[in-house]
Amino acid sequence: MAISMDRKNGYFYLRTKNTVYVLGLHEGKYPVHLYYGKRVKSPVLSSHTQALSFAPYYAAHGYDFLPDVTSVEFPLFGSGDMRATALKLRRLASGAAATHFTYRSARKLAGRCEIQGLPFASADENTQTLELCLEDEVLCCRLYLYYTVFPESDVISRHFVLENRSEGDVSIEKCMSLALDIPRDDLDMISFWGGHKCERNYQRTPVMHGNQRVQSRRGASSHHYNPCLLLCERKATEEHGEAYGFNFIYSGNFLDEVELSLNGTTRVLVGLGAENFTYLLKAGERFSSPEAVMTYSAKGVGQVSRNMHDFVRSHILPRDVFPQRPVVLNSWEAFHFDIDAKLMVDFAKEAVACGMDMLVMDDGWFGARTSDAAGLGDWFENKSRFPSGLAAFVEEVRQTGIKFGIWIEPEMVNPDSALYRAHPEWVLAAPDYEPMLSRKQLVLDMGNPAVRDYLKDAFAKTFDGVAIDYFKWDMNRNFDYAYSTALSPQQQGEAAYRYMLGVYDLFTCFCQRYPNAMIENCSGGGGRFDLGMMKYSTQIWTSDQTRPKNRVYIQYGSSFGYPASVMSCHVAKLAECKNPRWLDYRFRVALQGALGYEFNIMQASDTVKDALRRQVEEYRGYERLIFEGDLYRLLNPFETNGVSAYYYASKDQNELLLSFLQNEGEKKPRSFRLKLTRAEKNASYLDRLSGKTYTGEELRRGLTVCTDKEEQYGIMWHFVKQ
Ligand code: GLA
Repeated sequence: MAISMDRKNGYFYLRTKNTVYVLGLHEGKYPVHLYYGKRVKSPVLSSHTQALSFAPYYAAHGYDFLPDVTSVEFPLFGSGDMRATALKLRRLASGAAATHFTYRSARKLAGRCEIQGLPFASADENTQTLELCLEDEVLCCRLYLYYTVFPESDVISRHFVLENRSEGDVSIEKCMSLALDIPRDDLDMISFWGGHKCERNYQRTPVMHGNQRVQSRRGASSHHYNPCLLLCERKATEEHGEAYGFNFIYSGNFLDEVELSLNGTTRVLVGLGAENFTYLLKAGERFSSPEAVMTYSAKGVGQVSRNMHDFVRSHILPRDVFPQRPVVLNSWEAFHFDIDAKLMVDFAKEAVACGMDMLVMDDGWFGARTSDAAGLGDWFENKSRFPSGLAAFVEEVRQTGIKFGIWIEPEMVNPDSALYRAHPEWVLAAPDYEPMLSRKQLVLDMGNPAVRDYLKDAFAKTFDGVAIDYFKWDMNRNFDYAYSTALSPQQQGEAAYRYMLGVYDLFTCFCQRYPNAMIENCSGGGGRFDLGMMKYSTQIWTSDQTRPKNRVYIQYGSSFGYPASVMSCHVAKLAECKNPRWLDYRFRVALQGALGYEFNIMQASDTVKDALRRQVEEYRGYERLIFEGDLYRLLNPFETNGVSAYYYASKDQNELLLSFLQNEGEKKPRSFRLKLTRAEKNASYLDRLSGKTYTGEELRRGLTVCTDKEEQYGIMWHFVKQ
């Protein structure tokens, strides 16, 4: 049983396979946090109340309840807790931002509650939800806290619903979905920073006293930071020590906040934040926060990642529409905007000859889009490039024996477009100010239903009846503020959030209208590499950076929160492959996700084409293991000057796929011992690539691998139990 309630003593237990989370009610009134950790019989329950000077208290409770030094379940601004809080509300009638929520009732639900308009983790037969209802009688608001338990993946999710039962309006001024107080002052924080073409760099820093934040103010979860955050005890490694993982099922602005305070407790908060968000909750209305997730393991950082991977695969990602993930050939790096029907059909033929499954026609097929200066927003084919129309062209491509995918960027418009000329008021731009451009484009106000209706209609006219197997959905600029002509001046703080709701609505419409097509997400590469987007897209273009040297870092960072099956990885820039070994290296690097290709295959020699055919075939032999196996990271390229090693283990331990990747040549080769602790001790394993046999014991003790003098060196071992 995932959830049990001891109503007499006011305790609530949330159990997953290996963890337990306990909360209680202080004097039957205030929800306090008591334990989150390893599933043990009698967890030590404590909310760490200590009398410290200057902590406010209610006269009725005296020092018995000091919110400022207690691990409260959901810290509220204006209620005596002066650390970082989860929710800040203001009653507009008085202007006061005080709150006093107390417990009213609790319910256990089978499955989960849906979150209107937002993506959320799907439930299975083991999922259960605890609903705690709190009330503030002065504010006349009810706050419902939801804890959804996913026992198999050791994940618990959190979100809240606020109901304004008063006759006046309430403003939400800070909104965090998850709050957790960890009774430790010796944690490290693992977070991911970056930019376009260098996403998700790994960084591990000690959590210091004060407030540490990772956040996006860019309207998208962004290339610059990622909502995935880990905390672990200072001595934790991949395989040992206490570790926690957090993430947010949302694709816009976010805030991850970590605060170590005087009482030795580390508070973590995950949510929309306060800087780019306020929401006017009118009398009688309800507001649902996006969902945040957390996991815990006593077995190190690696296990936290594996929990996240299992969770994403089972509860986030859409089902695969094809029995096998298609190996794509994408036109972007080969031709950029210079494409037409004939070229694409010739390109498709070459792809077929190399055993690839899908031609993806990237940017340049619509409106006046012959460069990035015009045409975005005009979603009909360019007649001079596709004279027989899109449907007939797609048919011709498919007759070559390949699937067909197409690029779109629905959320954007070029000022030089028919759409902008007709509706300049449909972009996010403050009245009377000149809007700023980025990549010569403006952002459509996706929160405005009229904009979405237009897009739904325009895409339906162009795509209905055309045999499209795949959409590459791009988003190529960010925005620092959002102003919507569809909202009142008092509601402008909602514009960026409503933008996201609008984007999700359009995704839902695509998924329903084209159920047999898969969506690959993209935002200049990995600018929206998050759980919100993963709800609709089977895979995400991991980065516009296609050099394997840099990809190794990006893919390493991405692997902390996200499974390999979601990382779209292309072999590209073949013109740079001066040595056949470099082509092989690019392939080995791309095997950290869903394989694809992106270069002008028409210029490839027969030897290269043979090599490509062999690669696709080889990939098919590993695909299931990469997509469904457990990932074990062995070498961190951030600590080894780019040397990376990891393996995937099938759940039944029958197969292990080990990769060793080295970017730079080494004057003095170094050696590393790669221990495959997931190998079964008494079993014997055949490496299908070298034909050698190893005992499980040997693999557990480790293989010694040396770096090479030459750059771009990758080796693999595919161990299969005999
Ligand atoms: C973005 C994408 C690229 C390509 C271009 C097209 O940069 O990340 O893969 O689709 O847009 O304009």
